[in-house]
Amino acid sequence: MSHQNKLAVLFEGSGDVSKFEELAERLNLPLRQSTDQNSEAFFLTWRDGCLKLLDKELLKKGGLSVDIEPRNGEQRSYPAPKEGAFAQAIGRKTKTVIDATTGWAQDSLCLFRMGYDVCCIERSPMMAELLTDAFERLARESWVQKCQLSPPILMTGNAIDILKTVETPPDCIYLDPMFPPKRKKSALSKKSMTILQELVGEDVDKIELFEAAFAATAKRVVVKSPDYAEPLGGKPNESFSGKLLRYDVYLKN
Ligand SMILES: C[S@@+](CC[C@H](N)C(=O)[O-])C[C@H]1O[C@@H](n2cnc3c(N)ncnc32)[C@H](O)[C@@H]1O
Repeated sequence: MSHQNKLAVLFEGSGDVSKFEELAERLNLPLRQSTDQNSEAFFLTWRDGCLKLLDKELLKKGGLSVDIEPRNGEQRSYPAPKEGAFAQAIGRKTKTVIDATTGWAQDSLCLFRMGYDVCCIERSPMMAELLTDAFERLARESWVQKCQLSPPILMTGNAIDILKTVETPPDCIYLDPMFPPKRKKSALSKKSMTILQELVGEDVDKIELFEAAFAATAKRVVVKSPDYAEPLGGKPNESFSGKLLRYDVYLKN
């Protein structure tokens, strides 16, 4: 696992220590009581009611959690309108979506708020813990309860394997694997993505993932790529451009 020796669980002295011990045991990580004298560069801890990922720079600032709030400019009523390049690529008639590369779930949650039926896959056990915490918080949001919604289901493991076991093919499988940055500090300037790159690394098996997704989908695969990257599955049927990125759409029939 790429985050071994880089990551620890941090117990800062408040809250029930057994929760921290269980997290450390689940992830097979050391439990630390302070960040001094340790070699790890990253820590998982609960702060302000959220599970957070910290590096030494974020220790005093609060840390990163999966943000369940709508993005800037997004309509707050449910369902949010299916507008923009992302929704166009996913398709307005699409109902069910598997996000096979969930990461910080910003795309999954955007789809969820637009009313799509979303199921998530993530292979990093650390990210899966952050996501589980976020989906529990989402379930407690008043709008989610008022609309009687259930947060996305999360499956932890390699999507290449999990997609082979899917019984009901979804309308769309969405992929946003990690591409190497064109220049150091280019598209990865967002802190959350820089940290993910550091801890999880580049997704070197993305072509195999594309093939598994195309075999498993009922109607389409959508791949998000930086604008400089070659299309993952060869020439797409359609392409929608966003800011510094592209959504390539591969239709099944
Ligand atoms: C660039 S991030 C995705 C960001 C995400 N779209 C968001 O909105 O936050 C890629 C994520 O996909 C995960 N991933 C890549 N390949 C995967 C695979 N084959 N199976 C499951 N997860 C995968 C990585 O662990 C990483 O967390």
